Amino acid sequence: MDDAKRRAEQTFNAAAEFFDDPALGFWDRFGRATVERLELRSGAVVLDACAGSGASALPAAERVGPTGKVVAVDLADNLLALARAKAERQGLDHLETRHRDVEALEYPPGAFDAVIIVFGVFFLPDMAAGTARLWALVGPAGQLAVTTWGPRLFEPANSEFWDAVDQVRPDLTRAYNPWDSLTDPDAVRALLVGAGAERVEVEPVAGTHALRTPEDFWTIVRGCGYRATHDALSDAERDAVRSRTLAAIADRDVTKIETNVIYARAIKPDNP
Ligand SMILES: C[S@@+](CC[C@H](N)C(=O)[O-])C[C@H]1O[C@@H](n2cnc3c(N)ncnc32)[C@H](O)[C@@H]1O
Repeated sequence: MDDAKRRAEQTFNAAAEFFDDPALGFWDRFGRATVERLELRSGAVVLDACAGSGASALPAAERVGPTGKVVAVDLADNLLALARAKAERQGLDHLETRHRDVEALEYPPGAFDAVIIVFGVFFLPDMAAGTARLWALVGPAGQLAVTTWGPRLFEPANSEFWDAVDQVRPDLTRAYNPWDSLTDPDAVRALLVGAGAERVEVEPVAGTHALRTPEDFWTIVRGCGYRATHDALSDAERDAVRSRTLAAIADRDVTKIETNVIYARAIKPDNP
């Protein structure tokens, strides 16, 4: 496994501590919204790549029902453990978790009725090759759903966080932010078309996420990809970044942050 993948695994195993905290309710919201944009029949077989704690895998499992199957794949076993616990509580026995690199799956071409990847594609070191691999796994008349963040993720809190990091550790400023590499609807379309995908639909949706208190933003930092930067700071540096960021959020009276999302879907012909 290459360094980028090891880093994602380490980051999200640590982020699992807060990933399902109510402050990060956007995972469930956008996972469900992705599934709602798919035509998923009962009995369908679905691959959820980069499934995390099941934000899209669980609603997909509800939709396909017990005659169907959802395979949730992730590198972070701590997140898959959360997904397994939720599936068990909801009686979704047909949700299977697999602790694997999505680029090292051994399924034959066309094995799935739908392949979903939510906030995951930008972690693949070669996004074009990775997307082509996922498209190959989609069967005739099947669908590929790719959801990414749009521009200005978590602004204005995001800039306050990176400015605070810049004060103490400029080497870490925006040094780990793969999610910022694919925020343009045209680029998402080009990625899918370049992967050979057909009937591509791209839907940018602007939105916000409420911060109940400034502290909510620090919970978000600890429960998502920012965790890599958080963990790279010393205790003293982290305290400084935390107090500067939260003071700025309070001073500016920030009560919501931007969560713009791009939903993309491609549909395979009946007889590819
Ligand atoms: C931002 S999280 C999103 C999780 C979930 N889809 C959601 O929306 O809540 C990205 C996930 O991608 C996973 N990931 C990154 N690269 C991966 C790879 N090559 N194979 C499997 N999982 C990967 C990470 O471990 C992390 O759980």
